Amino acid sequence: MAITVQSFLACVLLVSAGVALQASADLSPDFYDEVCPEALLTVKLIVEAAVALEPRMGASLIRLHFHDCFVNGCDASILLDDTPTFTGEKTAGPNNNSVRGYDVIDRIKLAVNTVCLDNVVSCADILAVAARDSVVALGGDYYEVLLGRRDSTTASIDDANKNIPSPFLDLPALLSNFQSRGLGLEDLVVLSGAHTVGFSRCLLFRDRLYNESSTMDAAFAAGLQPRCPRAGGDGTLSALDHRSASSFDAGYYGGLVQMKGLLHSDQQLFRGDGGDADALVQYYSENADAFRVDFGAAMVKMGSLSPLMGSDGVIRENCRVAN
Ligand code: HEM
Ligand SMILES: *[C@@H]1O[C@H](CO)[C@@H](O)[C@H](O)[C@H]1NC(C)=O
Ligand SMILES: *[C@@H]1O[C@H](CO)[C@@H](O)[C@H](O)[C@H]1NC(C)=O
Repeated sequence: MAITVQSFLACVLLVSAGVALQASADLSPDFYDEVCPEALLTVKLIVEAAVALEPRMGASLIRLHFHDCFVNGCDASILLDDTPTFTGEKTAGPNNNSVRGYDVIDRIKLAVNTVCLDNVVSCADILAVAARDSVVALGGDYYEVLLGRRDSTTASIDDANKNIPSPFLDLPALLSNFQSRGLGLEDLVVLSGAHTVGFSRCLLFRDRLYNESSTMDAAFAAGLQPRCPRAGGDGTLSALDHRSASSFDAGYYGGLVQMKGLLHSDQQLFRGDGGDADALVQYYSENADAFRVDFGAAMVKMGSLSPLMGSDGVIRENCRVAN
């Protein structure tokens, strides 16, 4: 009996170790070192130029990678254009009139294909590298990106609508969204720190400015009202981190502790109830260096969600078109 149980356990351990190894062993930082050593520098130069021209573009490129990875893995599905016979993810609720940076990705892809003299770098990897280079261009810490993803030949507007978290979710729903991809509370809190850069449209936080039961700091809410009136101005932007929308620092967490989170989902990470999320937010508000390091590690984890590898998927010639 004991033997049976033990060998069963050994089997489970071996199998799960094998799965874990396979999932992380195939993406690697040096994937393009032989086939196109100039690829990563090419991405970096274009990202730097785009961010110098418009700092918000760095935020937009970081978000693009997130919205790719949370819909059936990091496979560049978000980049496919609609055609008369195909509807991609670009018009899904969370993306339509909101996600941007597609043109920068096009420019990167063109430059990389030119410098590599061949179509060898996937659009999914370009998204991962462009996100990292954006973090660095905005003053965040460098982290090594794992590479070797391939591109999907399909996309799913339904999955984009279902899987990308809404800013109206409460903490338990945000957490279960992350947990459904093997990410935990710490990942939720750390990755949400991306909101240290970039902007949100008024229509996504208006409720919080005019609602008696809103937990937003009252003076802060009053200050936002002129830019986000009760009616109109749906698309007017406000910074997600009111202190510095173009600097990749830990200011976002300080804002949450002061009840100055812009989105409902932001403030849900610090509810003032002394829970685990509160403690993490408090910690990062006081330990900016820990945030810088942990953010990179969490991005690597997010970037490893269900990649297509080996002979799965394709390397798209044009990121907007399935080959
Ligand atoms: C935890 C759940 C999350 C929710 C509910 C959420 C929601 C939102 C919303 C509503 C906006 C503004 C969109 C608009 O105005 O159209 C936004 C912007 C942004 N999000 Fe998130 N987000 C989440 C997590 C993340 C993560 C994990 C990242 C990246 C790692 C990220 C990066 C960004 C960035 C950088 C912007 C600003 C984009 C720009 O200015 O173009 N978000 N997010
Ligand atoms: C996306 O936005 C455009 C422009 O505002 C709008 O016309 C279109 O109906 C939206 N698409 C979806 C699927 O909501
Ligand atoms: C005000 O906020 C409460 C709690 O978040 C919510 O249940 C209610 O629907 C909101 N009311 C309005 C008018 O937005």
